[in-house]
Amino acid sequence: MSKGTMNKIVIIGEGRVGKTSLTLRYCKGEYSDTQESTINVSYLEKTVQVNETDKVNIAIWDTAGQEKFKSITPMYYQQAVCAIIVYDITYKESFDKVKSWVTELTQILDTNKIVICIAGNKCDLENNRQIDKQFAEDYAKSVGARHFLTSAKNNRGIDELFQYVGQEILKR
Ligand code: GTP
Repeated sequence: MSKGTMNKIVIIGEGRVGKTSLTLRYCKGEYSDTQESTINVSYLEKTVQVNETDKVNIAIWDTAGQEKFKSITPMYYQQAVCAIIVYDITYKESFDKVKSWVTELTQILDTNKIVICIAGNKCDLENNRQIDKQFAEDYAKSVGARHFLTSAKNNRGIDELFQYVGQEILKR
């Protein structure tokens, strides 16, 4: 994948897990405790400085996670080089949904070619954790994905996530 071109990344997952918050935190350094639901699709660009000499341009497509909007998502996967599947560590059902998203991705895209990341968001709420970290990591590995723990609120794990994405895009 050439570095100069725009690389499409789709961010998917159950409603309210923090997809928009992760995107806004990374691209704009902003966060709101009262972030509203995404109604359609939003789009933000950023340049990832992968190392001293290499940069990767990414465009993050943030979809609405609510079930009622689900029918709009498949076409947004087209041309994606990376999918970030987000769940909320305090909400078990959102992790169960990760499996559905993985299945859906494998039906639409060549998952050998795209980078798949699974982000366990809201890791600032460690005391309310419902998903074991090792369990999530083992699952990610089993589907060829890489697992990250993130907090859009506290800005944890997000740079690491996108650094990894940038590095993997450079390799391809
Ligand atoms: P949809 O657009 O409905 O699919 O939601 P989303 O997945 O984009 O989630 P959004 O970013 O709108 O965040 C949902 C709620 O969770 C908001 O109230 C956020 O402030 C909150 N939130 C997001 N990230 C974090 C986090 O890392 N920690 C905590 N504690 N709350 C978060």
